[in-house]
Amino acid sequence: MITLDEKPVAAQRSLLGRLELQPSDALLALIGLYAADPRAHKIDLGVGVYKDEAGHTPVFAAVKAAEAKLLAEQPTKAYVGPEGDVGFFAGLVPVVFGDSSLRARLAGLQTPGGTGALRLGAELIARNNPDAVVHVGGPTWPNHAPIFAAAGLPLRQHRHIDLSTQELCFDDILAALHGAVPGDAVLLHGCCHNPTGADFTVEQWEALGALMAKRGLLPFIDLAYQGLGDSMDDDAAGVRIVARHCPEMLVAYSCDKNFGLYRERVGALFLLTPDPQAAAVVQSNLLSLARANWSMPPDHGAAVVRLILEGADLRAQWLAEVDEVRSRIVAMRQGLAALDPALAFIARQKGMFSTLPLAPDQVKAMREDHAIYMAGSGRINIAGLTPAKLAPLAAAFAAVR
Ligand SMILES: Cc1ncc(COP(=O)(O)O)c(C=O)c1O
Repeated sequence: MITLDEKPVAAQRSLLGRLELQPSDALLALIGLYAADPRAHKIDLGVGVYKDEAGHTPVFAAVKAAEAKLLAEQPTKAYVGPEGDVGFFAGLVPVVFGDSSLRARLAGLQTPGGTGALRLGAELIARNNPDAVVHVGGPTWPNHAPIFAAAGLPLRQHRHIDLSTQELCFDDILAALHGAVPGDAVLLHGCCHNPTGADFTVEQWEALGALMAKRGLLPFIDLAYQGLGDSMDDDAAGVRIVARHCPEMLVAYSCDKNFGLYRERVGALFLLTPDPQAAAVVQSNLLSLARANWSMPPDHGAAVVRLILEGADLRAQWLAEVDEVRSRIVAMRQGLAALDPALAFIARQKGMFSTLPLAPDQVKAMREDHAIYMAGSGRINIAGLTPAKLAPLAAAFAAVR
């Protein structure tokens, strides 16, 4: 029986006292160091967002126009469902898969960013097969491991690239897929690999698709930078090839880079299934998982993307802006590669990131001696460069090597 004069339990310092201090985010610490550096010629290649030549991360004009339309016309702020904006999802299907012919076999929903899509996809895999292992090439986006671990799935890494030669280790992924257990998942960057910029060729995608189908492995493609590599269609080639080979696959999609919507958290999870009946079962599971995570995703950014994809003028304006972003990235890549044969690989790689073959003490020397800031891994954000910053970067790279 509980009595009011019962003594408090002493001993324990705090009811939450078993928590341990977690390491702080190294990239956030780098932002602090950069801000505190008084040197006028300092260069920030650390942060993972697009920047124009003036160093700004602009709001796309197409986004501003869609936002104005939304403000004027949105009739209600009533709840959407756990599936989010269905028009947004339907509008993305041809963007990602090339046409809408797979629609009947697709389950999926709007998610809070690509991160939400990865997490929900991981939880779906774990619910279906708690013993699944997720195979991924390393180095990979540092958030992959904690996202999959949080869903209870271990990540097993093979080599994606040899940083000293910048050659893709294709034999390593083939060996990993041959060694995987049927039912395991394979996490692949759809394009613009983060952090290395080293993407698969069309031939390699064909080989991977065929092997995953043959071995009964579940492809999980993370497509966070469509349009920032070669073109909207070329950057989706991997997804489309794998969709032809494999009866089932997942695609975690982010609109946060190619629409410049970062903080609005806009993403989608697509599940290709063998037939409409299977799609309905998967869809019911996705909806229940979404309800348990965020109930329903934030509306604004997805509504903006829907308006852009629905309106011919807005869509054309957006595509032109994506072209501009990509052209600037490609120009910086080519400019840097031309300065030093040891940097020639930069021009072959795609998207916002490449990883320089630098040891931690060399990364430190770049920062302390040359005021060039990059992630501790040597990852650089190509969009942090301008024509004037190419020569200082190449000179510093040559000096610390
Ligand atoms: C490889 C990769 N996947 C997914 C994401 C997640 O994107 P979002 O900001 O939409 O959650 C990122 C973001 O940096 C990324 O680099």
